[in-house]
Amino acid sequence: MQKENSNEKKIGLLIKQSFEDLEKEKIQIIRKKYLEKNGIISQSLQKISQEKDLERKKKLGILINNWKKNLIEKVNFLEREKHKKEENSEKENLIDIYLEGKKIPLGNLHPINQIIEKICDILNPLGYKFIESPEIENEEYNFNKLNIPPNHPARDMHDTFYLNNQLLLRTHTSNAQIRLMEKYPNQEIKIISAGKVYRRDEDDATHTHQFTQLEGFAVGKDINFSSLKRTIELILKKLFGKEHPIRFRPSYFPFTEPSVEVDAQCIPCQGKGCNICKKTGWVEILGAGLIHPQVLKNCDFDSQKFTGFAFGLGIERLLMIKYGIEDIRNFYSNNIRFLRQFSER
Ligand code: PHE
Repeated sequence: MQKENSNEKKIGLLIKQSFEDLEKEKIQIIRKKYLEKNGIISQSLQKISQEKDLERKKKLGILINNWKKNLIEKVNFLEREKHKKEENSEKENLIDIYLEGKKIPLGNLHPINQIIEKICDILNPLGYKFIESPEIENEEYNFNKLNIPPNHPARDMHDTFYLNNQLLLRTHTSNAQIRLMEKYPNQEIKIISAGKVYRRDEDDATHTHQFTQLEGFAVGKDINFSSLKRTIELILKKLFGKEHPIRFRPSYFPFTEPSVEVDAQCIPCQGKGCNICKKTGWVEILGAGLIHPQVLKNCDFDSQKFTGFAFGLGIERLLMIKYGIEDIRNFYSNNIRFLRQFSER
């Protein structure tokens, strides 16, 4: 009886000890100490195998096997938990390259520059190159060589800011024509130039003393009025849509002959008349014409062999009807809420 009690007691103590160890020791140590071939559990089983009393032997056997089962379950459970924890902390340390980064707020091109770029995209494939021309110009290039001599009435329409007797803020981008033709006499030329131009105007919703023009011109051996018309139609149809009504009106510029002005139907009122089109339903978008032979001669071109065309497009006007902008001053006021509307992103 004594022995029986002491065996059971011993095993009971070992069981208690094993679960206490589990809290303090590493899992591998527990496995080794209790569960491996020569571990305490196998030793205990061996010990009871010598037991003569079969009843008692059976009882102790069940006790030890339950112990083994519970301990294995607990060890496995702890191992799984440990594994999960490691996996999670690994995940935390990983950089997820697919996670969207912090967005850096980027600005957008000013609508004026956007439309200039668009027109360049239309004309580049046709061989047009973009060139800069100076905003501070002399009378020769802004007027005289364009067939606008001193005292010509056309100068009145271009009243501008003089910096001294000869230098002035250019009144149009047509100075680019002269500068390029002078540089490349009797050669074929196709260029676009764009930028600020100045006229002494009272600022209001549709006028400003400074605005933006885009000049396109081509000189070559077989350029005629239909080349001009086709080019202008191409640009305006790409900008406003194929079916958008445009019209050519005869006009006068001293440096082109014949000359035309081109109107586009007002988009916001669909030709019915509004403030933007001054109730006419149409807005003048550009002036154009075939280059006057005198201008070709002024630039040492052989006007018998060469012809050319030019057009000067008003960028703000174009934007005003395209987007229904009633006040031209919006383009220059740096109002971020106005400008963000033209974000292409
Ligand atoms: N330079 C003219 C203007 O500013 C426009 C124009 C350009 C006309 C080219 C004909 C040819 O009004």
